[in-house]
Amino acid sequence: HRHLLGIEGLSPLDISLILDLADSYVDQSRRIDKKSELMKGLTVINLFFENSTRTRTSFEAAAKRLDADVINMSVSSSSIKKGETLIDTAMTLNAMHPDVLVVRHANSGAVQLLSEKVDGAVINAGDGRHEHPTQALLDALTIRRRRGTIGGLTVAICGDIAHSRVARSNIQLLQIMGARVRLIAPPTLLPSKPERFGVEVFTDMREGLQDVDIVMMLRLQLERMQGAFVPSVREYFHFFGLDRQKLSYAKPDALVMHPGPMNRGVEIDSELADDIDRSLIRQQVEMGVAVRMACLDVLTRPLREGAAQ
Ligand code: CP
Repeated sequence: HRHLLGIEGLSPLDISLILDLADSYVDQSRRIDKKSELMKGLTVINLFFENSTRTRTSFEAAAKRLDADVINMSVSSSSIKKGETLIDTAMTLNAMHPDVLVVRHANSGAVQLLSEKVDGAVINAGDGRHEHPTQALLDALTIRRRRGTIGGLTVAICGDIAHSRVARSNIQLLQIMGARVRLIAPPTLLPSKPERFGVEVFTDMREGLQDVDIVMMLRLQLERMQGAFVPSVREYFHFFGLDRQKLSYAKPDALVMHPGPMNRGVEIDSELADDIDRSLIRQQVEMGVAVRMACLDVLTRPLREGAAQ
């Protein structure tokens, strides 16, 4: 694979290779004194058309841990604000010969379109409602390190699935790796024909959480909703917000995940989110750097091997 545009199309072996490599980077990802020179002389451009805290900073940290040059494009102060198009922006950056472009965009498919126009490797850092592959990979690494395996687990993905690229990438990755996936959401926040994803679908948390090993909560993406579609936050938390009472319907040792950013008190109870015995949310962020180091390593391997010959 020249680019990483989505989980779709990856094999169990592809995913295992990335997770094994990421595992080997965990120690290095935590310590600046363990920096390697793997990407010395290579350039990574972060191009984020949508806001980000975790993804952008962890790609920057990952690239710096591997000694790459990192350029963070600030979209808000770029010529995009003067009307330059996505493709013209891509071609302008391409003329500076980046080896990797990390791209987030509000439109599904925009990152794929850009990948067809540039010479370097492109990593999808989230495109609209489509995919967020490095998030699913870091979630998988977090689960695997805590539970030893992904195969055979039952994972419930809960909440605003309709607007979630994290859900789409996780639904695919978890099933490729042999987990059973359930979706739990109000009917208005389910995608159309959710059964096409090969998952079980529930509209009630009590029923859906029975015998679940991992509960993945999603942010209510109010910014992607319009008018009558917006639920009342108080009512939403009552029926779909994860608190200790609802978590008790799952397995006694069930673990809680959330990709962030969280709306505390909307989709998740604040105290439960911070419970270090039940919540993996902090570990998810930590694994983000190791997973992104592994993705940068894998995608720049042909370049490095070519340069060595
Ligand atoms: N989970 C995630 O993608 O977070 P950011 O939007 O902060 O990057």
